[in-house]
Amino acid sequence: MRIALASDHAGYALKRFLSQHLSAAGHECVDFGAATDAQPSSYVPFAVSLSEAVAAGDPPLGIVICGTGLGISIAANKNKGIRAAVCTDEYMARMARQHNDANVLALGARVVGAGLAASIADAFLSEPFERGGRHQARVAEILDVERRNFR
Ligand code: RB5
Repeated sequence: MRIALASDHAGYALKRFLSQHLSAAGHECVDFGAATDAQPSSYVPFAVSLSEAVAAGDPPLGIVICGTGLGISIAANKNKGIRAAVCTDEYMARMARQHNDANVLALGARVVGAGLAASIADAFLSEPFERGGRHQARVAEILDVERRNFR
């Protein structure tokens, strides 16, 4: 699967680690920046670039990383079509896909270690959305809110 990755400086090292981990598992990683952690960078433009691609469907899923996962997930969620979820364990990652149809996983590089982050990413990427039930109806409600509030 093609997977979009983005981070600020704080998430850069974890992004590199996950890129290698996911590539070794056969995924194709597309990096939307930052290109370095040599100086501090805002997570906002990288979150926006990734979100535009994911909202257009290519890549279909993304992973964004900052220090906590919070700022970059908030920035991603300001883009139409994006449902970004901060996850700190595998259960949250599975539920984010199964119940919320999240299309962006947000990780905090200062919150989770590299091994746990890899397990969270694996869970997120392998779990399908549970179609046809109450969760689909709720995601449809969220999309209605989005249609009302976004041009
Ligand atoms: C950078 O120091 C840090 O504020 C940023 O990576 C992120 O955690 C913000 O939400």
